[in-house]
Amino acid sequence: MQNSELKTPYFMINEEKLIANLEKAKQLKACSGVKLVLALKCFSTWGVFDVIKPYLDGTTSSGPYEVRLGHETFGGETHAYSVGYTEDDVKEVAGLCDKLIFNSQSQLSAHRHLVEGKASIGLRLNPGVSYAGQDLANPAREFSRLGVQADHLDPTVFDTIDGVMFHMNCENKDVDAFITLLDAISTQFGEQLDKLDWVSLGGGVFFTWPGYDIDKLGQALKQFAEKHGVQLYLEPGEAIITKTTDLVVTVVDIVENGMKTAIVNSATEAHRLDTLIYNEPASIREASDNGSHEYVIGSCSCLAGDQFCVTQFEHPLAIGQQLHIEDSAGYTMVKLNWFNGLKMPAIFCQRVDGRIQTLNEFGYDDFKRSLSQWPID
Ligand SMILES: Cc1ncc(COP(=O)(O)O)c(C=O)c1O
Repeated sequence: MQNSELKTPYFMINEEKLIANLEKAKQLKACSGVKLVLALKCFSTWGVFDVIKPYLDGTTSSGPYEVRLGHETFGGETHAYSVGYTEDDVKEVAGLCDKLIFNSQSQLSAHRHLVEGKASIGLRLNPGVSYAGQDLANPAREFSRLGVQADHLDPTVFDTIDGVMFHMNCENKDVDAFITLLDAISTQFGEQLDKLDWVSLGGGVFFTWPGYDIDKLGQALKQFAEKHGVQLYLEPGEAIITKTTDLVVTVVDIVENGMKTAIVNSATEAHRLDTLIYNEPASIREASDNGSHEYVIGSCSCLAGDQFCVTQFEHPLAIGQQLHIEDSAGYTMVKLNWFNGLKMPAIFCQRVDGRIQTLNEFGYDDFKRSLSQWPID
């Protein structure tokens, strides 16, 4: 199968680029002793887990189905975490996971009896400090519901749990800023951490970013682990999958109303939701900073403000031309939806040997079935 034969819209995961990120993960593990569990909330396309499995230690989750998916398709260590578990959820996941992390002390006391003897028990703590560009994604935001704050902790809780999880970074590319947070945690919770077996520092540490000082991060993690006598974990999502995947679309129309808009056969609201939620423009491989032809890359959804970006090209765009929307893996394929009845992008992987493998294709029947089946009595 050649790229030119594929019908847009589709995602193309590049195995070689994925391996390049994973090699950095391997380097981090080797110099720090940290274990890495893939955050399935960011990327769950299990058709490429054969590539990721040899490098990482397992998966972590945010809801019951992710726990089961990690257990079934990835293996290794399965961490279960949710902001809120029902009793049924806990019963379902306790037998599938190695660690179950509760978000609050009330969830811990309500459900711990269902987990004891089955999985290691943890609690999410909120250090009250964070590194996050946007308030929406800041776990330490005012009135945060994510994890227990130091001044709300029952001091005896540490005698009843095996580990804790902190998550306080979002796309943190600055190793020194991360080390400052690590020091803050050690100062604030150090004595309690000494009693535990494991500590997870969550995700959001962008150690695969070009130029990131992986050895410096590794040394800081190693020192922290030795100081408190714990096995450390990180829960990377975006760092593993960053810059591996394009969303390939076709220009279906060009309209003009003060600016030229190239309408493509995809929409941020359905296929690249974070562009919309975080108001972060996408980047287009074919664009050129010095180009004199400016276009809005517009979605074909009905939402008036739904656009991928405004960007420039060296030559005018033409109807029928394909565009590659870069870096479209993390928090993207996991959030696809059927809004407007748009065609769902297929998912392909270009393997290292050049072969293109189909991981998923969707059709009208999938759309219809997602809405109703005949009344099921
Ligand atoms: C608890 C937890 N762990 C891990 C992650 C993964 O973060 P990232 O994809 O930024 O590495 C997140 C993201 O929100 C999270 O909430």
